[in-house]
Amino acid sequence: MRRLRRRIEFFQGTLDSTSEISEARIFDTTLRDGEQSPRTSFSYEDKREIASILDDMRTHVIEAGFPVNSETEFEAVRDIADAASRSTVCGLARVVEKDVEAALDSGVDMVHVFASTSDVQLQDSMHATRQEALERSVEAVERVKEAGVTCMFSPMDATRTDEQFLTDIIEAVSEVGADWINIPDTVGVATPRRFYDMIETVCAHTDAEVDVHTHDDFGLAAANALSGYEAGATQSQVSINGIGERAGNAAYEEVVMALESLYDVDTGIDTARIAEVSRIIEEKSDITTPANKPIVGENAFSHESGIHAAGVIENSDTFEPGVMTPEMVGATRELVLGKHTGTHSVRERLEDAGFDPTDAEVREVTRMVKDRGAQKEQITFERLKEFARDVGVRREEVRI
Ligand code: KIV
Ligand code: ZN
Repeated sequence: MRRLRRRIEFFQGTLDSTSEISEARIFDTTLRDGEQSPRTSFSYEDKREIASILDDMRTHVIEAGFPVNSETEFEAVRDIADAASRSTVCGLARVVEKDVEAALDSGVDMVHVFASTSDVQLQDSMHATRQEALERSVEAVERVKEAGVTCMFSPMDATRTDEQFLTDIIEAVSEVGADWINIPDTVGVATPRRFYDMIETVCAHTDAEVDVHTHDDFGLAAANALSGYEAGATQSQVSINGIGERAGNAAYEEVVMALESLYDVDTGIDTARIAEVSRIIEEKSDITTPANKPIVGENAFSHESGIHAAGVIENSDTFEPGVMTPEMVGATRELVLGKHTGTHSVRERLEDAGFDPTDAEVREVTRMVKDRGAQKEQITFERLKEFARDVGVRREEVRI
């Protein structure tokens, strides 16, 4: 996959190190944890369409769902597994026989088994002792491996689990062949530094590959995921637009673009489809994307204030990261007209519309834009042209 060239070659000065992460794979859980967002439900057709885009984008793993959940869910996971040509398709299972069998029957390439490991969840959710959780986890991993399928094991609520027990269960499932150990920060309480230390310890206790699953309760999901990679994890679990339980998961677009643009890692993912897939998830999940959401929000590459817009007109690197451009994510840059607009933006937009304004006319139209913008009016391109006509700005050909 050809990577879109960056506009500037990395940061000069302060943040110029790019060697912290050498390998990074992406495990997408939009169709599983993402679908667990309150009030979200994807139809069979939605799931197929979303999976097909993620597959085309070269996402390494697609967690297609929870096969034991219902007949439709089973069929969706089965058909996604059958259709995917690039991505590994994964199905989720509790450490319960019927879950594991349903996942295996669906024909997925990978079964993701999970068990609670924190005392609070063992006691009041799973209703099992530590020993029972460990034994059932070992049995589930053994069954998946016996079937010849790749197995991922998650000690759920790992970040609130007793350290010794966490190590014991990771070692036990690793011994029976777990291929991946996923460390979930189930309720989003990790901080980047603490999570780093934790992942480094986990890596020292297993030969399996390590993956991380971070939640955004404190807005740290993407930072924690990146910290996980820095500590030795080779994969993180993300969802498009960050949808998922409660405040959601680490956002696919944030983690992928940080890897690509800030760490200089080639993920192999077709990032130019990020804006498109984000809009599809927004529509199908019924979760509106905030305008200021990184990368996929309406304002992510928009500029209104005079100084910023004037700088961007001259060179977009002045007030954008430079290492990430709208083209890289399939978005477009916009110069928005409003209360903070300056004359540079107005001149640029008037000239785009075929006007040839004098400096005085630009100032007059700018005043009108600012006044109306201050009254919260949305100044569209059409409205700008009306202002220009009201002020008597001549068209280019007339002045010539
Ligand atoms: O948040 C979590 O712990 C999960 C597990 C099933 C991995 O979603
Ligand atoms: Zn989760």
